[in-house]
This record gives sequence, structure tokens and C-alpha cells, in this order.
Amino acid sequence: MRQRSIKNLAEKLELNSAFLIEDPRACKGCWAEVFGNNNPVYLEIGCGKGKFIMSRAAACPDRNFIAVEGQEAVALRALEKAADEQLNNVRIFIDFVNDLGDYFEKGELAGIFLNFSDPWPKARHAKRRLTYHKRLQNYKDIMAEDGIVEFKTDNDGLFEFTLEEIEQAGFEILEMTRDLHSPENEDIYESARFTTEYEDKFSAAGKNINYVKI
Ligand SMILES: C[S@@+](CC[C@H](N)C(=O)[O-])C[C@H]1O[C@@H](n2cnc3c(N)ncnc32)[C@H](O)[C@@H]1O
Repeated sequence: MRQRSIKNLAEKLELNSAFLIEDPRACKGCWAEVFGNNNPVYLEIGCGKGKFIMSRAAACPDRNFIAVEGQEAVALRALEKAADEQLNNVRIFIDFVNDLGDYFEKGELAGIFLNFSDPWPKARHAKRRLTYHKRLQNYKDIMAEDGIVEFKTDNDGLFEFTLEEIEQAGFEILEMTRDLHSPENEDIYESARFTTEYEDKFSAAGKNINYVKI
């Protein structure tokens, strides 16, 4: 996701920091204290401008949501949304995450959302894809026993890669469709109700959206 360079970015981040976690590594083992309750915590990696996480958080006040975005200028948009909507069950941090063990103790996460992750099309960059099997293993290792990972993408090649990685990692597919927004699927998959900025754009252009939950 690209964002034009923003004037006075540091100042704007400071002004919109109400929901920003500045030192997420220091929250490892303490996320319940951050939220002030023991509700299940979900993480979105690469939240972009935050539409998905805000709508999910608004619909599910009994769950907590952390959004992480690596690009400051993009994360600013998510922080602005969080400030506008005053959702107390949302927090955002800015980082390109790799090992989730840097931020979470085992069992602290109930689920992870990966939405329209960067495809890294060159074969030699496969390990950078967020659904590379070692990353999937890292997510599952950090989550509660019944923790789930949901992945959505317009990119058919990345989806096929992901299915192979899921098989290689030995995880069970709980839900899967290659057309999340076909009329007969809208009531089946909870994820179809919460769309992202990319999802809206690709769906409007008639592109099928792939979805898998493990
Ligand atoms: C293609 S965009 C999709 C944004 C949003 N999820 C959507 O569907 O509209 C992918 C985003 O993930 C972010 N990203 C990629 N790898 C990341 C990582 N390891 N940690 C945090 N953010 C990441 C990128 O900066 C980019 O904004």
C-alpha cells in the first residue's frame, strides 16, 4: 500500500497517538493490562489504513484488536480512524513484524488476520511472504491452542502458494473459498462482512477474493 509522503508526519503521529503503542515489545505478556480486560486479542498484520480492524472492533466490543502496519504514513491513517471512532478495544503499533515472539507470550493471541498481504512475486523472495510455512508456524506457536489465522487475497498465485504452505506446515483448513463475495457465500463466512480498502477496490473491479481460515 502506497501513501504519498506526508508533511509533518512525526507531528501528526504524535497528535493521533491516543491508540498508538509506542513500545509493543514492552507489552509482551501484558496485553490484557493494556486493554484493561481479559477479552480475546486478535492481531492484523499489515492493516493498511485500518478499515477492516475498525469495523471488526466496532462489531465485536467483547474482543480486543491490535493492528500492526510497517509504514508510518499508512499507519497514520489507521490512527486517525481509531481516534475518530474512539474504539477502546483497538490498539495500533508501527513496525514490520517478523517473529511474533518479540511482542507476545504464548497464548496471548486468539487469532491473526492477514489481508491482501504483499505478494513478493519473485521466487527468491518467497520467505518474505506472510504465509510462508515458517511464518504460519510462528503464528500458531504464539497463539492459544485454538487460535485461528484468516487470510484473504485477490492474488490467485499467492493463494495457491499459501494452500501449499498450509499443507507443508500440516495445519487443518477450517474454511476456504475462492469467491468470498459470491452471493451464496455472504452469510457463510464472517470475514465477508468486514472488508479492507484493497478488498473493496478489487471486488468493485469484479475480481474474486480468495479466503482461507486455519
Ligand atoms: C497490500 S497492503 C494491504 C493493506 C490492507 N490490509 C488492505 O487489505 O487494504 C499490505 C500492507 O501490509 C504492510 N506490511 C507488509 N508486511 C508487513 C509486516 N511484516 N508487518 C507489518 N506490516 C506489513 C505494508 O506496509 C502494506 O501497507
